[in-house]
Amino acid sequence: MIFITAFFVLLSMNKSNPIGFFDSGYGGLTVLKEVQKILPTYDYLYLGDNARAPYGARTADVVYEYTWEAVKTLFKYGCDLVVLACNTASAKALRRIQHENLPEYPGKRVLGVIRPSAEVVGDFSKSNNIVVLGTEGTIASNTYVDEFSVLSPITKVNQYACPLWVPLIENKKYNSLEGKAFIKNDVEMVLSSFPRADVILLGCTHYPILQSFIESIVPKTVRIVSQGEIVATSLKLYLERHEGLDQKITKNSSSQYLTTENHEVFEDLASTILGIDVNVEQIKFK
Ligand code: DGL
Repeated sequence: MIFITAFFVLLSMNKSNPIGFFDSGYGGLTVLKEVQKILPTYDYLYLGDNARAPYGARTADVVYEYTWEAVKTLFKYGCDLVVLACNTASAKALRRIQHENLPEYPGKRVLGVIRPSAEVVGDFSKSNNIVVLGTEGTIASNTYVDEFSVLSPITKVNQYACPLWVPLIENKKYNSLEGKAFIKNDVEMVLSSFPRADVILLGCTHYPILQSFIESIVPKTVRIVSQGEIVATSLKLYLERHEGLDQKITKNSSSQYLTTENHEVFEDLASTILGIDVNVEQIKFK
């Protein structure tokens, strides 16, 4: 009996319980990178649904269906906590997952990236006037406007959709002459449409990959804000408030990566974003 108990204790000790990160593709890596810096001892499991990206123009039902499939997969890999490191999924699927699905999964938690951003970004603006850039889906959902109206009502939130940016990144065309011309055109439209705004929030986790280019074409008075550090700080505070959950997460400083696309295709850009070589496993949803 003692041996059997010891065996199961050992088994549960070895069980990995990483923090799951999900994005339609590469974008969530820009968030994970900042989280790894601020919480270096934790284990992480990243899943990019690159084979079905982009999600931006998909209906709410489809985004929900794909996101929930991914979250369930991360649960099966042992994650008790999953971060939707994707604004489109946070806007179109998070609430539904929290309300309809999680009651059947006691002990599991799913968080998004929109609320943590709306909690702090208003404070970065002197003119109380900001622009949120996002996918068509995120912008059409109005989730940012709704969250700011509660969390930072003095902030005027202008929105602008950039439907080409995620495809340019997923297809590794963002550095091409044509790619840069498209991005520049959108940025110029934003600057001329919202001249009072002094903060541009990159409300899509893919967009920080373009941050240095965007910064090179906007006036110095306009601050470009990406979500990685904001989400990392918010996650750290969340774990401090949820000690029971925090204790269950395994801490061996390990990170693993899954993609629904060919793993070699993923490894290339993932290594560029993270600044280290990564090994990636290709999976299929069951
Ligand atoms: N990184 C996702 C986001 O933050 C991109 C969504 C897409 O695939 O269009 O919205």
